[in-house]
Amino acid sequence: MAEFTSNSVEEYLKGKTILVTGATGFLAKVFVEKILRVQPNIKRLYLVVRASNPHVALQRLHTEVFGKELFKIQREKWGEKFSSFLSEKVVAVAGDVSLHNFGIKDQILIEEMLKEIEIIVHSAATVRFDERYDVAMGTNTMGAYNAINFAKICLRIDIFLYVSTAYVCGKAKGLILEEPFRMGQTIKRSSELDINLEKQLIEEKLSELQARNANEKTITSIMKELGTIRANLHGWQDTYAFTKAMGEMVVTSMKENIPLIITRPTVIIGTLSEPFPGWIEDVKTIDFVFVEYFKGAITSFVGNSKITLDLIPVDMVTNSMIIAMLVHSKNNTSNNLIYHIGTSLRNPIKLSEIQDLMHLYITKNPWLKNYGKSGTLYEKFTFNPNYTEDLEFPQYKGSRLKRIMNMYRPYLHFEGIFDDKNTEKLRMAIKGVGSVERKFNLDPKSIDWKEYLENVHFPGLLKYSMQPKM
Ligand SMILES: NC(=O)c1ccc[n+]([C@@H]2O[C@H](COP(=O)([O-])OP(=O)(O)OC[C@H]3O[C@@H](n4cnc5c(N)ncnc54)[C@H](OP(=O)(O)O)[C@@H]3O)[C@@H](O)[C@H]2O)c1
Repeated sequence: MAEFTSNSVEEYLKGKTILVTGATGFLAKVFVEKILRVQPNIKRLYLVVRASNPHVALQRLHTEVFGKELFKIQREKWGEKFSSFLSEKVVAVAGDVSLHNFGIKDQILIEEMLKEIEIIVHSAATVRFDERYDVAMGTNTMGAYNAINFAKICLRIDIFLYVSTAYVCGKAKGLILEEPFRMGQTIKRSSELDINLEKQLIEEKLSELQARNANEKTITSIMKELGTIRANLHGWQDTYAFTKAMGEMVVTSMKENIPLIITRPTVIIGTLSEPFPGWIEDVKTIDFVFVEYFKGAITSFVGNSKITLDLIPVDMVTNSMIIAMLVHSKNNTSNNLIYHIGTSLRNPIKLSEIQDLMHLYITKNPWLKNYGKSGTLYEKFTFNPNYTEDLEFPQYKGSRLKRIMNMYRPYLHFEGIFDDKNTEKLRMAIKGVGSVERKFNLDPKSIDWKEYLENVHFPGLLKYSMQPKM
């Protein structure tokens, strides 16, 4: 590929038109912020947002994306001109990824999009581990199908980037390679997967439930159960990972000559440094455990403290996505397809170290005691590999916590390490290119876990998601 120079990224992005799905979500809004910050002279950003019409889509973008503190540097930079800058660059598209052409009704808009779009970043997903099977199939698998089909009719498409998850590998152990799925491949390998058959099963189950006039609660519960059964049957831990894996199969098998990148981030947490340290959207996955411990609600959770938990700051994920886009653009063709974006290989942190840092943080920040209702605040936190259904947590109705523990159990017992040879090639591509390496840090070794968790991530998590009573 052509060598990077100090302004390769800016040059590549200049005048480009990018479509992003999932921009009201955590990862894609950090991506959008970075793009607008490093290259305000992009041509256009089409942001597909679930909404009844473009006006509502725009409203959502203003409140849920550009109105967030994440954009404070941009707001300071542009001052009063921020709104006009946004109206010039951003088009709010009311759309739903589970529908053909994202369900966009405005034909003139579609024509314009097809003529202009050069990059598609497909980040939209339902990230609920135990989502209803019909919803997860529609969003994660058919969403990927609709997005790649849309890319195929874009006249100037240069890159299609699908955001997947590292945990599509199931409950694997040892070194997990950056290998694509072939269509129909399963984790169990003894079974063969037929996505059309899975869709048929969903339709049949829904028809059956409608025929017996099942109420919404029953339908939700049965469709959730169906997802788990089908995921487990083929070896995946949950409906989320299963439907994301099928999304990968779909884009890989349908891409034809479109430059495709599949990024597989691990567990994404708050920003390391950009646009400023410690920004986070809301409480997901392991952050739930941190917050509940800091609130004094729990002192123990399911998990094996001996394992390495692969955490990755969100800005490192978006930096990797941008550098991968350049490396794959038509002029720079690369044969790599999959990029693991994580830390477990190059800068691992064990769950036992995380539990020590949690305790250190809470003992150093006694003001948190306002949250302590159980009187357990200063107890050391433990991950319990032998968690049983009978564990009691005073601040919860047992069932909710049990459900969450069961969902997180595979992730907190996960014994794999994510190989990242392909991502390492991205690091090598920008190595020594001073300003690029600085502006697009994707080096896990640059994370000082103690400093980051104690002084950046934990305080950020509390600030943005917990709003403690001072
Ligand atoms: N967070 C993690 O730790 C993590 C780790 C690895 C991989 N990933 C992957 O990273 C991507 C982004 O995750 P995230 O954490 O940013 O998730 P998120 O905060 O839940 O955002 C998901 C986004 O997808 C949108 N969406 C969902 N269904 C849609 C539909 N039918 N049509 C259009 N948009 C739809 C949501 O829109 P609404 O606002 O309308 O709901 C939201 O903007 C996902 O593909 C996920 O699988 C995440």
